Amino acid sequence: MIIDPSQIDPRNTYQLLIGSIVPRPIAWVSTIASDGTLNLAPFSFFMGVAANPPTLAISCGSRRGTKKDTLANVEQSGELVVNIVVEELGDRMNLTSGEFPPDVDEFQIAGLNPAPCKRVRAPRVAESPINIECVLKQVIYVGNEGSESGLIIAEAVMWHIRDDLLTPENTIDISKLHAIGRLSGNWYTSTHDLYQITRPDTQQPKT
Ligand SMILES: Cc1cc2nc3c(=O)[nH]c(=O)nc-3n(C[C@H](O)[C@H](O)[C@H](O)COP(=O)(O)O)c2cc1C
Repeated sequence: MIIDPSQIDPRNTYQLLIGSIVPRPIAWVSTIASDGTLNLAPFSFFMGVAANPPTLAISCGSRRGTKKDTLANVEQSGELVVNIVVEELGDRMNLTSGEFPPDVDEFQIAGLNPAPCKRVRAPRVAESPINIECVLKQVIYVGNEGSESGLIIAEAVMWHIRDDLLTPENTIDISKLHAIGRLSGNWYTSTHDLYQITRPDTQQPKT
């Protein structure tokens, strides 16, 4: 089968995207509105972009032509926190994806505790084992007029990591983290079935 995306309904192309790009990590993004309302929502169009300085990107789609609360808050405050979703938080993460008005605090909806951050005003999710405090670098709008996604590019300025997850080499022990990934529809994947593939040793000897 060959599919030309320009010939099919955009809702169907969305299904092709989310069914092909799998599994996807989930950025559970906490922000704060100008009136102080806390906001929390998951985003799986999420990736690391650069290491120096540490930079990540999250794509926030439009909701019937209007900005989602996350994008509005990030643009207004210049800050966000990316919280990592682990297995036991999956149901509560899902609850926060509901379409709530801007004055609704999803921390309360999901029974989660906001904890203070060091460098940003937005709170982190206390229950999440990894929280990354970020400052906004740039929003790039991508897509056709009326349905643009806002690609949030942000610099990570502080990491909170649960003590038992950090190895003596300062790496994260992913076998203990139990992060979940999004597939398509209501399908998710766990990170239990781990295996290693050794990189090819192609580095040329120094002459
Ligand atoms: C696992 C998961 C991943 C999601 N990923 C995205 C995404 O990458 N981009 C997006 O715009 N919406 C995504 N959504 C939907 C948003 O979470 C949803 O629109 C939410 O209501 C946005 O909240 P806000 O208006 O408070 O920002 C996702 C939902 C779930 C459950």
